Amino acid sequence: MKIKNICCIGAGYVGGPTMAVIAQKCPGIKVTVVDLNEARIAAWNDKDVNNIPIYEPGLNEIVGNVRGKNLFFSTDVDKAIDEADLIFISVNTPTKTYGTGKGMAADLKHIELCARQIAKVAKNNKVIVEKSTLPVRTAEALKSILDNTGNGVQFQILSNPEFLAEGTAVEDLLSPDRVLIGGETTPEGQEAIKSLVEVYANWVPRERILTTNVWSSELSKLVANAFLAQRVSSINAISELCEKTEANVSEVARAIGMDSRIGPKFLKASVGFGGSCFQKDILNLVYISKAFGLNEVADYWEQVIIMNDHQKRRFSKNIVQTLYNTVSGKKITFLGWAFKKDTNDTRESAAIYVADDLINEQAKIALFDPKVSQTQVLSDLDYLATRKPAENEKHITSYDNPYDACKNAHAIAILTEWDEFREYDWQRIYDGMLKPAFVFDGRNLLDGEKLKAIGFNFHSIGS
Ligand code: NAD
Ligand code: UDX
Repeated sequence: MKIKNICCIGAGYVGGPTMAVIAQKCPGIKVTVVDLNEARIAAWNDKDVNNIPIYEPGLNEIVGNVRGKNLFFSTDVDKAIDEADLIFISVNTPTKTYGTGKGMAADLKHIELCARQIAKVAKNNKVIVEKSTLPVRTAEALKSILDNTGNGVQFQILSNPEFLAEGTAVEDLLSPDRVLIGGETTPEGQEAIKSLVEVYANWVPRERILTTNVWSSELSKLVANAFLAQRVSSINAISELCEKTEANVSEVARAIGMDSRIGPKFLKASVGFGGSCFQKDILNLVYISKAFGLNEVADYWEQVIIMNDHQKRRFSKNIVQTLYNTVSGKKITFLGWAFKKDTNDTRESAAIYVADDLINEQAKIALFDPKVSQTQVLSDLDYLATRKPAENEKHITSYDNPYDACKNAHAIAILTEWDEFREYDWQRIYDGMLKPAFVFDGRNLLDGEKLKAIGFNFHSIGS
């Protein structure tokens, strides 16, 4: 079957960029991205492409080129489902916040709603693609819902997890290391796999398109994220040891990374990993392992999260201890709130947890992030429910310029590795601060020697 019409349910950080690239690379395919969130769809349709809801370098240009030609954003979910030959499900699958598996299992309510809606609306055979990250064997549940419509419509379910990283989404989508497609081993399953392979083959070399059974594909996504996060927790564990031994974690990372069996990537010590995926996907892996009675497997992976929580807490503790064991009433300026550079996404950002700790110590936080609004910052803190929203509002203030944010501060903490932070006039910042002026670089971003020469009391991670 040749795919002519694609629907994607979920216009988020994955659905939006992925469909924009598919539309750009497949001019013969009509792509409609649908979402229940009206404000989000309105932003995707904003006349000014700079106002699309997701900041990703290069994304506005692609959307500007294809929107209204073969890429459409809509809230009419039923219509898009009805018209599509192939439907990507790209809705959020956060950690459950209630009931069995609370705090660990993936919440699949949005996925199930999508399946039920597809079952209700579909009048002809369709390929359903799991684009969201899902627990292994979810396709079984989807199949059970879809195969019981009673109207004779046939569905094939594929797993096609997304490996893009935020901040480099467009680049990753245009030249992925691999595209993974899992499907049933039946002739119909293989036919469905082939139809999706042909979509990607419009721009991805065939040898990079990997096909497997459904379960391997579903599980590989969780495992890929677990392995990546494990590297960050591993180097962060070593950063603490470096601080005690006069070793330097950047030097250690370089030395081990040159071993081709280890490799140089994902060895950057930091204040801790964030983002919507790593924690939730590892917790999900831990939950699944426990469900099978594999307690040692579960404990092994849970340690990656435990280490990450420790790294975040260690950073805030170090700030308090260094500032003479009290930050009460002191202005501490955060540069960065996003969980990494080049994104406006703040989900699970280390900054949220560091701020929460410092507010507990009654610090006054000033904040500058080039892409994150005060509303988002407050909503992130309120979500933790540590204290009343009015209290959070009293303790944190966003600025629209870094120099004002740093004025009269006792200390600056770098929470996100935005490139522009390196280019600031650090002498000017120093001159405006209270003395001694402290910098805590949670990203090992700044030139420590230069800052020390200016007069800063400079602290980095792992040295
Ligand atoms: P997101 O929250 O940005 O977007 C999900 C969207 O789905 C939301 O806009 C929501 O309104 C919409 N939605 C939920 N239920 C719906 C329904 N029934 N009908 C229509 N729309 C509905 O999430 P995201 O970051 O794009 O992640 C989506 C999935 O992709 C998750 O499973 C995630 O684990 C996975 N993933 C994310 C990334 C990433 O970097 N963000 C990378 C790879 C995989
Ligand atoms: C991740 C995976 O990389 C991606 O393949 C998957 O599809 C979704 O989850 P993402 O969360 O967008 O992507 O960003 P990533 O680049 O993986 O960074 C995650 C977190 O780890 C960030 O907070 C980042 O700052 C941190 N990190 C990453 C480090 O602290 N050190 C590193 O060396 C690498």
